Amino acid sequence: MKLAEPYSGNSSFDHELVIGGVSARALAQEFGTPLFVIDEADFFDRAVAWKSALEHHFGDTAGTVYYAGKSFLNKEVARWVHTVGIGLDVCSGGELAVATSIGFPMDRVELHGNNKSEDEIRAAITAGVGIIVMDSFHEIERVARIAAELKKIQRVYLRLTPGVEAHTHEFISTAHEDQKFGFSIANGAAWRAIEKSLEHSSLSLVGLHSHIGSQIFINEGFEIAATRLIELLAKYRDHFDRQLPELDLGGGYGIAYLPGESSLVASDVLGAIATVVKSECEKHGLTVPKISIEPGRHIVGPTTTTLYEVGTTKSVELDGGDSRRYISIDGGMSDNIRPSLYGAQYTALIANRLSTADLVSSRIVGKHCETGDIVIREIDLPEDVAPGDLLAVPATGAYGRSMASNYNHMPRPAVVAVRGGKARLITRRESINDLLALDI
Ligand code: LLP
Repeated sequence: MKLAEPYSGNSSFDHELVIGGVSARALAQEFGTPLFVIDEADFFDRAVAWKSALEHHFGDTAGTVYYAGKSFLNKEVARWVHTVGIGLDVCSGGELAVATSIGFPMDRVELHGNNKSEDEIRAAITAGVGIIVMDSFHEIERVARIAAELKKIQRVYLRLTPGVEAHTHEFISTAHEDQKFGFSIANGAAWRAIEKSLEHSSLSLVGLHSHIGSQIFINEGFEIAATRLIELLAKYRDHFDRQLPELDLGGGYGIAYLPGESSLVASDVLGAIATVVKSECEKHGLTVPKISIEPGRHIVGPTTTTLYEVGTTKSVELDGGDSRRYISIDGGMSDNIRPSLYGAQYTALIANRLSTADLVSSRIVGKHCETGDIVIREIDLPEDVAPGDLLAVPATGAYGRSMASNYNHMPRPAVVAVRGGKARLITRRESINDLLALDI
């Protein structure tokens, strides 16, 4: 039986969970747990869906789909992104190094970050990155100086805050005024940043950028952001008598995490944005600029399932006579910080067998020395869940492994790609020796 969202791609359940043709038990046996299992074909399908949707809705004015590497990046995923023919958004020297290490075409890489170091800027310009997205006045000077030193003219965007209140968690909302990213359109910083950028012959300002936040389901935020950027394009045209050729509208497209939820559909949201972009450009007498986007979560999030092994269970008496069953798994907040950090919610199923036992209210907790180490606060799971069972948590591909830590000196989990009944390691499990090797 094929599973519905938030299970994605090629997951099915027939006496046990099977992902990309490989059974959960076989995966756990060969690679151990906790384990991130990424459905390779699903990753390709999702990346291609964004590329096709952008091309379909924008035609000749389709820019680049930049996969946001912060959501999850390793060398193999960078190769997949390259194979699909889309671009890569990196936001640190480390992410840039993944791209350069596999020979990713640098003209399709864009560098982000609100505090890029001089070394990162130098590495990016030397490598030949297509775009640097500049985030502050200090950075305009820095990028200009380093590009001049390297005798290059660097193509740049300016990251702007269009003043949109995105309907998502405060920590992942980025286009309102009172936060660290970008130049405010409302207070005039954006315009001053444009003027500053044009003073430097080592910078080629080709476009404006905005990213309003993450895990967003309402198109309106994207539409307002696009409208405000286009107003600024019109002001630029009126002032300089020429047009900036590109706009990058960022990422943030929401996905399903719980049963009954559904993900945004690439073609729907880009269709809505295209309608607004075209009508606003027409209103201002502008040619439609090349439109780029930066989806991360929507491409990789649903492709990945975390497999854990159950270690202990216990029942705890609650006030009022009820009890709660705690199920402890062999990972936790070190491989998925999102529930503790954002109150993010996930679902789970017992992956290694079909159970027909009665369901009981359960809490899935990790093995860290911390009460808040909760993966799922409340879920009904079969009464007979026992040590040795495998628990699968779907939709952990984005900001799971990429935000993993070594809290309590826990080695970070391996990542395995499955496709057509075959599984292969794409990031090996960290070992305790890896951790010890860092100490002098
Ligand atoms: N572009 C920029 C400039 C970004 O800052 C981000 C995400 C993206 C694109 C991709 O956004 P996405 O399509 O993945 O939503 N750790 C948080 C999410 C932080 C997002 C940071 N920036 C979480 O786990 O929900």
